[in-house]
Amino acid sequence: MLITFEGIDGAGKSTQIKKLVSYLADSGREVLTLREPGGTEVAEKIRLILLESRHEISPVGELLLFSASRAELIHEVIKPALAENKIVILDRFFDSTTAYQGYGRGIDLELLRSIIAISTCGITPDITFYLDIKPEEALSRKFSAKSIPLAFDSSELDRMERSGLQFYQNVRQGYLNILKESNGRMFCLNALEKPEEIHRRIIALLHERLQT
Ligand SMILES: Nc1ncnc2c1ncn2[C@@H]1O[C@H](COP(=O)(O)OP(=O)(O)OP(=O)(O)O)[C@@H](O)[C@H]1O
Ligand SMILES: [Mg+2]
Repeated sequence: MLITFEGIDGAGKSTQIKKLVSYLADSGREVLTLREPGGTEVAEKIRLILLESRHEISPVGELLLFSASRAELIHEVIKPALAENKIVILDRFFDSTTAYQGYGRGIDLELLRSIIAISTCGITPDITFYLDIKPEEALSRKFSAKSIPLAFDSSELDRMERSGLQFYQNVRQGYLNILKESNGRMFCLNALEKPEEIHRRIIALLHERLQT
């Protein structure tokens, strides 16, 4: 079973994945948790190229590098794990590509669909949990975690907001469009609820899905 988590930066994906992994481990299920890019020798090398800041990479180049890394991970790790009936949890998958590179950066959505189909070998999550939050709220959550005072006239917060707010609003709208078109694959969770409450809903949805 393939479970994916989606949502803008700071929505609470890592927090929920940690809770779900410990819940599944406690119930004796073998779980594999993965994060892109990386996870194989080649994919880790691609990760270094993507993360090293001295490289200037074009949006399309970035998309293809991410997709190459994804293809390696699918081929070497995810496909074999699913064949062994393991539960695979992914912190972001192709919905992030559609939301960020498509709705965020403006790359043609049809083109993205073809690239995604090639890089994933057509593998689709069984269930996707989308944590919905306004970019302003996600940003302030990240800042407060780093103990930066939450004064909205702080120059650092302004800079972040100015550079990113419209982009993140487009990404969030992208996620909401993907949700509408997901044919019941994707579930929307209010990321402002308490972590425990969100976790409870995730478990309930997962049990429902396992019975169908
Ligand atoms: N439901 C919640 N309510 C309030 N704060 C939360 C909630 N979930 C997570 N947080 C806090 O918000 C911050 C971001 O959470 P987290 O790292 O899980 O988000 P993320 O979606 O994984 O972000 P990124 O995309 O940057 O990895 C953390 O400080 C976390 O403790
Ligand atoms: Mg995270």
